[in-house]
Amino acid sequence: MSKLISLTVNGIKHNLEPKPGETLSALLRQRLGLTGTKIGCEEAECGACTVLVDGEPMVSCIYPAERADGKTILTIEGLAEEFTAKSAKKEEREKHLRDLSGLSGSKILHPLQEAFIEHGAVQCGFCIPGQIMTAYALLKRNPNPTKDEVRFALKDTLCRCGGYPAIENAILAAAQALRTGEPVQKPTIPDSIHTHRLVGHTHTRHDGMDKVTGTAIYTDDLVFDGMLYAKVRRAMIPHGFLTKLDISRAKALPGVVAVLTAEDIPGERTHGLVIYDWPVMVGIGERVRYVGDALALVAAETQEIAEQASALVEAEFDLQPVITNPVQARQEGVPQIHEKGNLLKHIKVRKGDMEKGFAEADVILEHTFHTPTTDHAFIEPECSIAVPQVTVTSAKHPRSEAERGEVTVTSRIEIYCGSQIPYQDRTQVARAMGWPEERVRVVGQLMGGGFGGKEDVMGQIHAAMLANVTQRPVKLLFDRHESLLVHPKRHATQIRVKIGAKKDGRLVACETELYGDTGAYASLGEKVMTRATTHSAGPYDIEHVRADCYAMYTNNPPAGAFRGFGVTQSAFAVESMMDMLAEKLNLDPVELRRMNALHVGSITNTGQELRESVGLTECIDRVDAEMRKHNSDPFKPVVAPLTSSESRRADSELTAKGAKNAKKKEKNLSDLGELRGSKASHLVRAWGFAAAYKNTGLGGGAPDKSGAEVELYDNGTFEVRSSSAEMGQGLVTVMRLTVAEEMAVPPEQVRVLVMDTDLTPNGGPTTASRQTYVTGNASRYAAKTLRNAITATMAEKYDVRPEQIRFENGIVHANGHSMTYAEVAKEMKAAGQQPRALYEYEAPKTQPLGTGGDMHFAFSFGVQAAEVEVNKLTGEVRVLRVISANDVGMAVNPLGLQGQVEGGVMMGLGNCLTEEFIVENGYVVTDHLARYRIPGIMLTPEITSIIVEHPTAEGPYGAKGVGEICSIPTTPAITNAIYNAVGVRVDKLPVDQELIAREIWERQEK
Ligand code: FES
Ligand code: FES
Repeated sequence: MSKLISLTVNGIKHNLEPKPGETLSALLRQRLGLTGTKIGCEEAECGACTVLVDGEPMVSCIYPAERADGKTILTIEGLAEEFTAKSAKKEEREKHLRDLSGLSGSKILHPLQEAFIEHGAVQCGFCIPGQIMTAYALLKRNPNPTKDEVRFALKDTLCRCGGYPAIENAILAAAQALRTGEPVQKPTIPDSIHTHRLVGHTHTRHDGMDKVTGTAIYTDDLVFDGMLYAKVRRAMIPHGFLTKLDISRAKALPGVVAVLTAEDIPGERTHGLVIYDWPVMVGIGERVRYVGDALALVAAETQEIAEQASALVEAEFDLQPVITNPVQARQEGVPQIHEKGNLLKHIKVRKGDMEKGFAEADVILEHTFHTPTTDHAFIEPECSIAVPQVTVTSAKHPRSEAERGEVTVTSRIEIYCGSQIPYQDRTQVARAMGWPEERVRVVGQLMGGGFGGKEDVMGQIHAAMLANVTQRPVKLLFDRHESLLVHPKRHATQIRVKIGAKKDGRLVACETELYGDTGAYASLGEKVMTRATTHSAGPYDIEHVRADCYAMYTNNPPAGAFRGFGVTQSAFAVESMMDMLAEKLNLDPVELRRMNALHVGSITNTGQELRESVGLTECIDRVDAEMRKHNSDPFKPVVAPLTSSESRRADSELTAKGAKNAKKKEKNLSDLGELRGSKASHLVRAWGFAAAYKNTGLGGGAPDKSGAEVELYDNGTFEVRSSSAEMGQGLVTVMRLTVAEEMAVPPEQVRVLVMDTDLTPNGGPTTASRQTYVTGNASRYAAKTLRNAITATMAEKYDVRPEQIRFENGIVHANGHSMTYAEVAKEMKAAGQQPRALYEYEAPKTQPLGTGGDMHFAFSFGVQAAEVEVNKLTGEVRVLRVISANDVGMAVNPLGLQGQVEGGVMMGLGNCLTEEFIVENGYVVTDHLARYRIPGIMLTPEITSIIVEHPTAEGPYGAKGVGEICSIPTTPAITNAIYNAVGVRVDKLPVDQELIAREIWERQEK
């Protein structure tokens, strides 16, 4: 037995025998059950696992457990207690926090935890323990930090939801509260201009309390008795035929419980969201199409054994030439990756007469743009746990002697996972198992981000197969490497735009040709590239439009849904062209957009007349006005002033020389001016501008439905249920507010249950910015239906007309009588009625592309202006400010909306400046988080969010989607700003800073 280590964790002393190679995070999570410490990468990159060791922040995923011997550890779970013990104003705080916590009971929080909730810094919540612990260490050392000091302290703690501005503000507010002993100051966020009692005002997230205290449970935090651990043996070659697979050595390894191959697939051998072309596993003689293809599955007693066994699976291949990009994939004579060829879909948009359009044009410009593959990089990697359930029942009412004693054995699988489409997961697992869907239950867990990347099944089928064979729970957790390798990405594209305009700037023709790399399997490639194509002429009223898109299979990792759904790529191309056109015509880029902007009465590229809710011009005007407050001539480059510290340094250098008389002082002042000028002359600033639109909902003729159920309980509380997914975007708060609004109760009186295929009606996929609209409406109408039933009960009981029933402050009034909801529930039950209502909302019908009419039932509009600073010596680009206006119809919860907007901008900024998922000849280069650079807090610009509200008649209270539109214009706003600053047109993402510097030098040399 090795020597025990002794450590104090959250005030409790533990003596433990160390395990070889064990990390502190594993000890905390697995042995002490402190799962508040999250694991995002296990490579010291994301900071999610940060805890305090003897008061210093440490990433616990690489900290050897043995080193913690004799140390004091503080984790997120111990933070509040540590604070409470020292808090002088305990009673006051308790009361305030009881208000905050609502139904989750009173808990005492540290001011940091409270401030994170109040400021909306909590979205998916996965990074939050790491953020708070890092901030706690900062405030211990420095109780009064500046913004810059906060940023520096948090520079290595990543938040993919991009809540950095809120995180920063929360930390400063907490610091102030700690210094003064006063309550945490709340942010000031304007209400919607269409407020109701609750809807339209700011509300904190209902799950915030669990997320800041470390009690929020994500899939990897779950433990089941007898649980096995799984690992998938991946092909690791991009293209070839599997000729031999030997699992004997893996099977023989002690601790291995099962090894499965394609021969063991009980049902259908392929899965997919639309097209079933993705093999559950590749069998001998079958084609491997990308490095992430699964060859074998291992279940073992420990994760380490599963990994060892997976490495012992031996595979041989007949290698094939690799198709690396969509243009090559379309060439004649290249290998065909799928039986039907390399073309997934040729997507066409036709409007007007192109020849006529270009003939009418005074100016025609043409340019080609490239965008790379990018990854969602949600901080929580994928995890699925499949749990077999066997139910034995005997015949209740035997009809014959033979039936007496007869038992029925039902076996099911329950799957715990983070899923954007739980019912789709169920369908796909059931297909692969060869079972009816009822035998599969998907129990969605909190998700540490999704952004479209958790729509496809990842480990769900594999975990189910292993659980079924072993009849034990099986956990399949992807490490970061596997996550990057396997799941679908954002499509890399090549987009050629040809645009024609009259001299006055009126657009007359736009032709685009797009190539989209959909990788090895279809996923949602066809749908994504359709959106890229239909939006490829931008949010403009153009008479003649033609677009052709080739969504092509390649041997790269599959591409599918990613926030922006293809429009991110085409907006970059067309918005760059708009600025190029403005320059050619010597027009203001804002004016060019304003004169061509879609408006009520416009006909879109797909032939849809916009009849309402088009706030594009208002977005343009408001961003323009805000931008010009900073600079009246925003697109002209200006030399950056010295930073305040540079300026201070310059001042002190000069004054140190001594200014004894007035003449010398004057001289020093002029030296100072020169110094400032010369030091800063290589830093140039300018603004850039871009606009975009994005459909809300599935569109294209797909039925767009969502179900929700609302139930009144005996204690007078309500529950609203839908399978729709919460991945941090705030849907649960929207559902809660909606039901509370309709039932006239406080939000705390409404619980929300989501993502369970046994217990919640089908809410459809969480994609296409649709959930606020469709599930918001389903929740609202379910509540209205229940209210009608209550009205009928009360009207009958008190013999009054239904119009005389009023719902106010949690009480139902009936012409002088009144009942609480608890009494109403009993009354309805006594009358034989169930106090619940189910509603399936179906959004207005849409038409398929190419048939004209309404392809979508609503559009959101967004405009952004970005101010950048470019270093002419190095090409380095810093984004200083972003102003973002979004027409969201109506702001249901302005606090949640602000988080979405800031996060969207940060994701757009990463897409523009830092992110590229690199694949070389089919092999993934960016296979670690450290190699895939998502923006951290240091890159966060000042973000101003302007909410524009042009309500839709049909959306809940007028709302439409926001999740995607707020991210789309960021990239072209930045690249247009770079051009305005230094004259370099970026036509390939991400921005290559070296290339900028080289172009500037070359120009100077000429
Ligand atoms: S830094 Fe430890 S999990 Fe990412
Ligand atoms: S809240 Fe930070 S990653 Fe989601």
